[in-house]
Amino acid sequence: ALSKRFSRDFVFGYATAAYQIEGAHDEDGRKPSIWDAFSRIPGRVRNGDTGDVACDHYHRMPEDVRLLRSLSADAYRFSIAWPRVIPDGRGPVNEKGIDFYDRLIDELLKAEIKPYATLYHWDLPIEQHGRGGWCARDTAYAFADYTDVVMARLGDRLSGIMTLNEPWCSGHLSYLIGEHAPGERNLTAALAAIHTLNLAHGLAMQAIKARRADLPAGIVYNAKALYSASERPEDIAATERYRAFHDGVFMDPVFLGHYPADVVEAFGPIMPKIEADDLKIISTPIDFLGLNFYAPERIAADPALPFPRARSVQAENVPRSAMGWEIHAPALDRLLTDLDARYELPPIYIAENGCAQYDELVDGKCDDPGRIDYLEKHLTVLADARDKGIRVDGYFVWSLMDNFEWSHGYAKRFGVVYVDYETQKRIPKSSAVWYRDLIAGRAQAASV
Ligand code: FCB
Repeated sequence: ALSKRFSRDFVFGYATAAYQIEGAHDEDGRKPSIWDAFSRIPGRVRNGDTGDVACDHYHRMPEDVRLLRSLSADAYRFSIAWPRVIPDGRGPVNEKGIDFYDRLIDELLKAEIKPYATLYHWDLPIEQHGRGGWCARDTAYAFADYTDVVMARLGDRLSGIMTLNEPWCSGHLSYLIGEHAPGERNLTAALAAIHTLNLAHGLAMQAIKARRADLPAGIVYNAKALYSASERPEDIAATERYRAFHDGVFMDPVFLGHYPADVVEAFGPIMPKIEADDLKIISTPIDFLGLNFYAPERIAADPALPFPRARSVQAENVPRSAMGWEIHAPALDRLLTDLDARYELPPIYIAENGCAQYDELVDGKCDDPGRIDYLEKHLTVLADARDKGIRVDGYFVWSLMDNFEWSHGYAKRFGVVYVDYETQKRIPKSSAVWYRDLIAGRAQAASV
């Protein structure tokens, strides 16, 4: 059985993010983030949804930790809201804000669940956005200061810490494609944001290590599983350019200590200024690599577009999730194998994997066989990759519960637990029971 292919030292967990579940947007000293502002702009988020209430996790935290325990969690990946801890981005620490995470961590430890904290899952304090946000180097230094505050107060009890979640979303998706806060479409701004994000990560790594050298620390990427749309050499070359522009700009500086040459060449005059020590800071060794995986992308050459002169194309007649994303589990192997060939990788955690389905409550129950099928296929590919010798030490399902799915609002459900937003009742779907049983049924000894 699938469960026997994982041993008890493999970490199985559930993932969430602050803005997507907490609510209590103006309580206990929290101030707005870019997502509070963005979600209020008409037309930016489906249905005008915001994270004001979300899953009300801020008030239901002990109940949610009990839920995690009842679902056999080894670990829980949550994010810390910068606008709760240092509401203005820089300046005074909000004791009540950090106290929430202090209590969360203690509850988790009491429940024998390992806490993994993400420092930034997209909720930049609005005041820091006013100081230039991710386009300004100041934000990297402010992030390092915030990291130090978190480490001083919470670092002793964490099992792992992640600096940034999916910097591609904070760079490309937020500043170039304009779908995420702050919703800009400006290549120069995006390039500046990419460099600040990299620098923020490196400075945060140093801040973490200065407080607690033994705490496993890393970053989480949504590195892309790419297929060339055809065997034509143009498409194959376009796929490599696409990879450099979307993944290489983050991973090359961290793992290789430089930016991809073709990106630097393409954007020379509009590249941000890189100061003397930046690349040294950015390439501070990480202890683990977090990867979020959902779907593959298929890439074709398009000479009419600016660099990377490539576009994503949709495969026809393939299964898709409720997001419209292609479901193709072998792509997870492709991702792991490609990265393994490209870089000297530390141990990997799958920090998110899951899918949106058209979930409905029927007689108080939610049956989601499509999600079980998705998870089972991806975990099988993962077990195979481990057998081949790729070191993956853990897996977090996205998500513990349905939540605010960014520009899609509450319309898309990713949880293994159903949330009835009217009553805030949590109802484990059949996938939660399946995943719980998988975790509980693991082999005792280390798998061979
Ligand atoms: C990832 C995000 C996460 C969630 C999933 C579906 O890109 O990290 O917050 O929205 O996608």
